[in-house]
Amino acid sequence: MSDTLDSLRRAAASCTNCELYADATRTVFGEGPASAWLMLVGEQPGDREDREGAPFVGPAGRLLDTALERAGIDRDEVYLTNAVKHFRFERDGNRRLHKTPAVGHVRACRPWLDGELAAVAPEVIATLGATAAKALLGSGFRITADRGRPREWEDRQLVPTVHPSAILRTPPERRSEALDALVADLAVVAGLRPARSGRATPPHR
Ligand code: URA
Repeated sequence: MSDTLDSLRRAAASCTNCELYADATRTVFGEGPASAWLMLVGEQPGDREDREGAPFVGPAGRLLDTALERAGIDRDEVYLTNAVKHFRFERDGNRRLHKTPAVGHVRACRPWLDGELAAVAPEVIATLGATAAKALLGSGFRITADRGRPREWEDRQLVPTVHPSAILRTPPERRSEALDALVADLAVVAGLRPARSGRATPPHR
C-alpha cells in the first residue's frame, strides 16, 4: 500500500462524517495494490467485513472471487473498495441485517472514495450494484439497461455491473444464469486490462 493510501486509511478509521460510525465496529477501507489497473467499487461492508475489517470477505466476496476467476481476473491485481465504508444495518434480535445506505451516507463517504481513486489512479473501474454506480454516475443511472457496457468516466473506463449479493438472492433455478451474466460483464472488464499490467486476458469460462 502506498503512503497516500496508508494515511487515507488511518484518517478514515476515525471518520465521523455521518452517523454510521456509531453502530459499526470499524471503518472498512479499500484493499489491494496501489498500482492496480482495476478498481472494483461495491456498496458497503457487510456483517463479516465489519467484523474482519476487510472488504468482500463474506459470502458476496466468495461469489465475487468465483466470478473474477472465471473472467480471468486475479483478485490480487484488483483494488477492492466500497462506496460507503461503514456497515449500515438494523437489528433483528442478535442478527444484524443489511440496510442499503442512503444518498447522504454515500455523499459523506465520497471524500474517501475520491482519495482512493486519486491514489490508485486505476485505468478501469467496475461498479458492483446500484449504489456504487449511482455514487459515480448519478442517481439517474439504471443498471439493467447499461450493465457490462464500458463508458468513459473522468478519463478512464468504467463498467457497471450487478452486485454479487444480487446473485445470492436470485432463485436457485436462475442463479447459474445470473452468475454467467456477471462473469460475462467481468470478462468485458478483463478485456480492458492495459498492456502495462503485463498479464494476458484469457478467454472466460
Ligand atoms: N458487499 C459490498 O458491497 N461490499 C463488501 O465489502 C461486502 C459486501
